[in-house]
Amino acid sequence: MADIVERYDIPVQHFWLHGPRSGPAVEFSADAGMWNVYGHPELHEVLGDPAAFSSDTMRVVPASMMPSKDDFSLDGFITQIDPPEHGKLRKLVSSAFTRKVVADLEPRIAALTHELLDAARDRERFELVSDLAYPLPVIVIAELLGVPSGDRALFKRWADALFQSDAKVSVNRPSDEREAELQAVMKPWKEMSDYLAGHAAQRRRQPRADLLTRLVEAEVDGERLPDDQVVNFAILLLLAGHITTTMLLGNTVLCLDAYPEQQDRARADRASIPAVIEEALRLFTPFAALGRATTREVKLGGVTIPADQMVMCWLGAANRDPRQFPDPEAFDPHRDPNPHLAFGRGIHFCLGAPLARLEGRIALNILLDRFERLRTDPDDPVLFIPTPTLTGVRRLALVR
Ligand code: HEM
Repeated sequence: MADIVERYDIPVQHFWLHGPRSGPAVEFSADAGMWNVYGHPELHEVLGDPAAFSSDTMRVVPASMMPSKDDFSLDGFITQIDPPEHGKLRKLVSSAFTRKVVADLEPRIAALTHELLDAARDRERFELVSDLAYPLPVIVIAELLGVPSGDRALFKRWADALFQSDAKVSVNRPSDEREAELQAVMKPWKEMSDYLAGHAAQRRRQPRADLLTRLVEAEVDGERLPDDQVVNFAILLLLAGHITTTMLLGNTVLCLDAYPEQQDRARADRASIPAVIEEALRLFTPFAALGRATTREVKLGGVTIPADQMVMCWLGAANRDPRQFPDPEAFDPHRDPNPHLAFGRGIHFCLGAPLARLEGRIALNILLDRFERLRTDPDDPVLFIPTPTLTGVRRLALVR
């Protein structure tokens, strides 16, 4: 792995990519004012116990640091909700976002991949992220939701403003720094909410065959989703629906560049592509960290965490825990089992995992068909997203 770190100049804030951790699996960071969990069994426990580890992390952020609810609200944001409300909301949104809805997308995803690669054919350089890995998932999720995919420059602006910060993960940051960050987030958030609220209102008046219509019409036990929850769920789909899959595609190609013998095997045995994708998700975990807040004192990995503490769940580190994954630094698509935590675990397990896996499988197959060799351009360095909690390339030029 040291080779990969050096070869691609992987930024130091992505510490989990820089070799196995030698410290404890659970530790308090006085500097950041939060607990860090790095171990696989420990994270398994955290993610499986929403009663002790709440997803409503706002509960531990001091009120003085919170924006007003009129400016910014995470109400009804499914990733922040605990049982029993979570179960109801999950059932409602799952009734609209079914496996069949996703499976039916297969021909469209393949056609779009070819279209995007055709469009890039005459460009001097093929840059994977801007030519394929970004536009593909964003067009797919926009079409699925029923918002114009031509507005994707807007979606990119919002996603960049919300995610591409290199600020340290900490609840102890000075208040002026936090305030500046909130201000930078509130404006795009409001724009995105207004945009999606407009489309949702239109669907209530004029239903169409799209996910937004299914969301405004979805019912569980005779109840429908309130408008603000439809909007917040649509925001989550629009954001989670593309940036993560963009990272998955870029990271998988990076792994095949770094491990040419695995590329040969994947070419020869296309049935192994799903396993290649799972291994890339383990080794280069797109959402490298999730937040939780303790609701009571808990014992974890031999230490006691008091109530009302912020807990950072480092999926990226747990996915390289040698206690779970032998030779964790090696890219080995044949490891079986591969119980990585890249899609989370438990009640919040990623609802979009089937879509991400489908897009990954189709796009990778087509890339292998259309490129004799997937090889990064030595004259055009690979760039990584600077955000400490994300693992993903933001620029990866391939040799034609
Ligand atoms: C939840 C990762 C793609 C929609 C999650 C969680 C993770 C994750 C780690 C758990 C969050 C938590 O426990 O706090 C990923 C990765 C993806 C991906 C690595 C791609 C490689 C997608 C896509 C969609 C999506 C394509 C939708 C189109 C969601 C939703 C949840 C979620 C709605 C919330 C589920 C809940 O709270 O019950 N994702 N995701 N994700 N993801 Fe994904």
